[in-house]
Amino acid sequence: MLRIKISNLKPGARLGKDIYSYDAQLLLPRGTVITQEHLHHFAARGIEEVFIMDSRPRPKSGKPFADVYVDSLQAVKSFMLEAKLGKSLDVEEIKTTTEMLFLQVFDEIDLFRQIRLMKEKDDYLFTHSVNVSLLCILIGRWMKCDEQVIRELGVAGLLHDIGKVYIDSEILNKPGQLTKEEYEEVKKHTTLGYNLIVQNGSFSHDVANAALLHHERADGSGYPIGTKGYNLPFYAAVTAVADVYDAITSDRAYSSRSSPYTAAEILWEESFGRLDPRITKVFYDKIANFYVGNQVRLSNNEIGVVIFVDPSMPTRPIVMVDDKFYNLATDRSIFIQEVID
Ligand SMILES: [Fe+2]
Ligand SMILES: [Fe+2]
Repeated sequence: MLRIKISNLKPGARLGKDIYSYDAQLLLPRGTVITQEHLHHFAARGIEEVFIMDSRPRPKSGKPFADVYVDSLQAVKSFMLEAKLGKSLDVEEIKTTTEMLFLQVFDEIDLFRQIRLMKEKDDYLFTHSVNVSLLCILIGRWMKCDEQVIRELGVAGLLHDIGKVYIDSEILNKPGQLTKEEYEEVKKHTTLGYNLIVQNGSFSHDVANAALLHHERADGSGYPIGTKGYNLPFYAAVTAVADVYDAITSDRAYSSRSSPYTAAEILWEESFGRLDPRITKVFYDKIANFYVGNQVRLSNNEIGVVIFVDPSMPTRPIVMVDDKFYNLATDRSIFIQEVID
C-alpha cells in the first residue's frame, strides 16, 4: 500500500483504505477505482492524501530488485576477493546469493530493464557475474527446467568467470586490443575457475564445466579446448548464451555497450555455427515480449517508442516517432541504437 498526495493521484488507481468524511461517514470503500470525478470530489472536500494499492509486481522474495542486486554484488565481491587471497570458496554465501537471485526471476518481471538500470553499479566482473547468473536462471525458467536445475544454473552463472580473479586486472581492463600473449593469459580464466570449483568439492561437475567451457564454440573457434559441434554440457551452453548477451549489452574497457536489439541479432547470427541454437532460439523468441513500450533511440538519432514486435523478427519492430512510423523489418537502413528507459 502507498500513501499518495491527491495532486499525484491518477485515475485508475485502486483505493487501499476506506475514506471517511469528518463526520465519520464512509465516502468511498477500499478497492474503489479512482476516476477523474473522485479527484474533483477530494479537492472539494479538502482531502489531501489517500492510500492506494501498490500494483507494482512484487517478487516472491519480498525484497526490491535493486536491494537484492546490491546485496548480491557485495557477496560476489567478497567471495571473489577471498578466492584471490587463496581462501576456499564460501559455499554458503554463494548458495544464499543464488537463492536470492532465483527468487527474483520470474517470467513476468522485466529483467532486461532491471539489469539495465543497475549497469554502472560496480566493476564489470562483479556486475557481469550477477547478470549472467540472473540470465541463466531466466533461461532455465523459459526452458521449463526443474527448479533444482534452475538454481544450479544460477550458481554456474555466478561462478563462470571466477577464474578471472587470478588474471592481471591491467589485462582485463585494457582499453585497446589485447596482444597475443595477453589473450592467452585471459583464456586461462576458464581452467583456473574450473580447478578452483572442483577443488572446493561442494559444487556439481556441471557447474565446474560451465566455468571451463563457456567460451567453447561449435565451429571450433572457442577456448580452452576448441571442441567442435553442439555437444557442450547443458549448463555450459546456457552460460555461454547468457555470457555473450551480457557482454554485448555492457560497457567494457574496450567497447561500449550495444542495445539489447543488436545483442539479440548477434545471438541469432551466432546460432549458425557457434552458440547452441536450442538455447538462443528460446532467448530470441522470448525477448520480444519485453520490447513493446521501450523508448528507443534510432540510428538516425530520432527517439521513439516500440509499438509492435513481430515474434519472428523481434529485433526489427515498428517504432513510432511523433506521428510517423518506422517499420524496421522493411527499412533495413535504420536500426535501434539504444534503449533509453
Ligand atoms: Fe569467461
Ligand atoms: Fe563471462
